[in-house]
Amino acid sequence: MNDPVGTAPCPPPTAVCPVHEGAVRLGGPEFRRTPAELYRSLRRRHGPVAPVLLDGDVPAWLVLGYAEVAHVAAHDELFGRDSRRWNQWSAVPADWPLLSFVGHQPSEVFTEGTEHQVRGEVVIAALEAVDQFELAHWCRRIAEGLINSFAGSGQAELMSAYTHPLPMRAAVQLCGMTEGGAVAGELVRDLRISLDAAGDDDPAAAYARVQERIRRLVEDKRRRPGPDVTSRMLTHPAGLTDEEAVQDLITVIAAAQQLTADWIGNTLRLLLTDDAFALNVSGGRLSVGQALNEVLWLDTPVQTVSGRRALRDTTLGGRRIRAGDCVVLGLAAANTDPRIWPEGHDGRDGSARAENAAHLSFGNGEHRCPYPAPLLAEVIARTAVETLLERLPDVVLAVEPEELTWWPSVWMRGLTSLPVRFTPVVR
Ligand code: HEM
Repeated sequence: MNDPVGTAPCPPPTAVCPVHEGAVRLGGPEFRRTPAELYRSLRRRHGPVAPVLLDGDVPAWLVLGYAEVAHVAAHDELFGRDSRRWNQWSAVPADWPLLSFVGHQPSEVFTEGTEHQVRGEVVIAALEAVDQFELAHWCRRIAEGLINSFAGSGQAELMSAYTHPLPMRAAVQLCGMTEGGAVAGELVRDLRISLDAAGDDDPAAAYARVQERIRRLVEDKRRRPGPDVTSRMLTHPAGLTDEEAVQDLITVIAAAQQLTADWIGNTLRLLLTDDAFALNVSGGRLSVGQALNEVLWLDTPVQTVSGRRALRDTTLGGRRIRAGDCVVLGLAAANTDPRIWPEGHDGRDGSARAENAAHLSFGNGEHRCPYPAPLLAEVIARTAVETLLERLPDVVLAVEPEELTWWPSVWMRGLTSLPVRFTPVVR
């Protein structure tokens, strides 16, 4: 095991590493419920960079400070994205539950330098050509259709009936898939299994099904290109191979679906559990866009980014980081860093943050969420929330707020379910 603070040699991987005494396990029910509590206590105890243990007690650094997260993400000459650089692979079992997230994939996310610039440019060019008005129009239609399917019953479980299928159908449409709803449903399920390793399902098998489906899409678009993201990526002068295109499309679809779904869900939760906030939105003092922004500050979908690996020995937040150490970006922790909110960030009326988009929820530096993806995500999320509130104006939570539960993920923050009631709509 590597010695991340550079003192005595560490014992073999199975033993507890003394330099990580005080390291806290990242995960568990408490962390899932209130991650902000753990961030606060880690900050008090360790400052802006804390030693943590990932699943299976594999050591890593969690960066909690705003300035430190921004620094790591902006300096790819110091902190690389290729996870094969990690000095802990010998401590990771073959069936490690976080493997599907941390293990190297041949997608642009794990590339560095010129290769990343070229692959990133292909994605950006393909997304830039998306017409945002047309996207809002599709999303409105998708939202109406989904709401119609449950509006008459007076109740719904919104995560499965609305927040997940809506961005997936939008993503499927953006990428030029013609199969529609059933395919979108299977993709939602398989992506969730492959990213979260939750439950009894096999993440590797689920990921293989996702790959197979996207491979068929790429073959189809090579033969019959159309006005869609997939075709634009395949015809870009950079000349992606089929396999590169498959990997980068999976990144685009997974981000567009999972992260936007959790953004919608966390925003609906805010509006359904926080009366003051909801009143400000329904009374026109705050917009849905401002509610979405509030969630990016306080309850962001990407809590942590699995990482960067130090390219050489360096220091960060007063810690000595060794070459190959895993540095996890604590985006959610950084957003609530008391050094940027010295007056506190608990007043939940949203007014202080309403117009402030300096959060790190879309990352920073070369690997940040590529422009214009955040804009497209916002079009999808805003349309979803606005349409639901318009169609079901008296919607309320059907359980107590504390009964809501979160996916068991250290990386993402999303609800497992969001049961609601409302006056049935007779058509
Ligand atoms: C239309 C929706 C979206 C698309 C197409 C999209 C696409 C992408 C892509 C392709 C990347 C990889 C960038 C790279 O490594 O070069 C990325 C990164 C990222 N995305 Fe998005 N994204 C979307 C929505 C979101 C949402 C809603 C969030 C969270 C609020 C988000 C947060 C992030 C973050 C934090 C990263 C950076 C990860 C890192 O630092 O390594 N994205 N996104």
